[in-house]
Amino acid sequence: MRHLSKWVGLVSCALAFAAGTAQARDWKVIQDSGTAVVATEGAYFPFNYFEGPKLTGFEIELAEAVVKQMGLKLEWKVVPFDAQLASIRQDRFDFAIASHGYTEERAKSVDFAAPHYCSGGQIVSFPGGPKTVADLKGKSVGVQIATTYYDAAKKIAGIGEIKTYKDEGANFAALRAKKYDAWISDRFVVKATLEKNPGTGVVPGDMVFVERISMITRKNNPDLLQAWNKALAEVMKTGLYQQLSQKYTQTDISCH
Ligand code: ARG
Repeated sequence: MRHLSKWVGLVSCALAFAAGTAQARDWKVIQDSGTAVVATEGAYFPFNYFEGPKLTGFEIELAEAVVKQMGLKLEWKVVPFDAQLASIRQDRFDFAIASHGYTEERAKSVDFAAPHYCSGGQIVSFPGGPKTVADLKGKSVGVQIATTYYDAAKKIAGIGEIKTYKDEGANFAALRAKKYDAWISDRFVVKATLEKNPGTGVVPGDMVFVERISMITRKNNPDLLQAWNKALAEVMKTGLYQQLSQKYTQTDISCH
């Protein structure tokens, strides 16, 4: 019997170890390590994107300021957007900041921090193309895979084909090549993308929905969420938040 309990003890210890490595780290462990490991996509202009070899954008600069305020260094991990929700439950990074809008469905598997901006989905098309939700009847749309734009498109009664793209760069290229009738994406992604690519001829239409954008953590990491929320509030007080908001969107994108 004694022998058996020892064996059982070893097994449960091994299992606990396996479980421990299969989820993002607790706040205390992150704090002790001195570095937060943070995932982003790096293809969502102007929020998280590459300028040559350099990761930059509103969320990149904001997260760097918030994590610094938390007293930590930041190590970026570039992860495809559609892989982030699932991999946050593994041990590859501590949290993700990649413009996740709050949804009840997502909240079943991850926790959301306080929102760091408010925005929503907007329709974009060539002149004569769909500009309102009603116009989308029977029309094809392009959306980034695993996004709230995809969810919103699916709910539009009578909508035509929904084409999905890995990232918004590929999606915008498909719009310009007339692979579908309308693009649905974030209003500030649309604004910045159209400004950066003048002369494409495409024009923005109506908003489809609004959403609150937050960083996400694995479930049940309350101390990490609290530390982030507190530091975010402090960064919002210093004026740096507004500076970044103006720099990347020329407007106030806070949820006020
Ligand atoms: N806001 C949308 C959502 O919550 C899109 C986010 C896309 N983010 C990105 N890094 N591509 O699904």
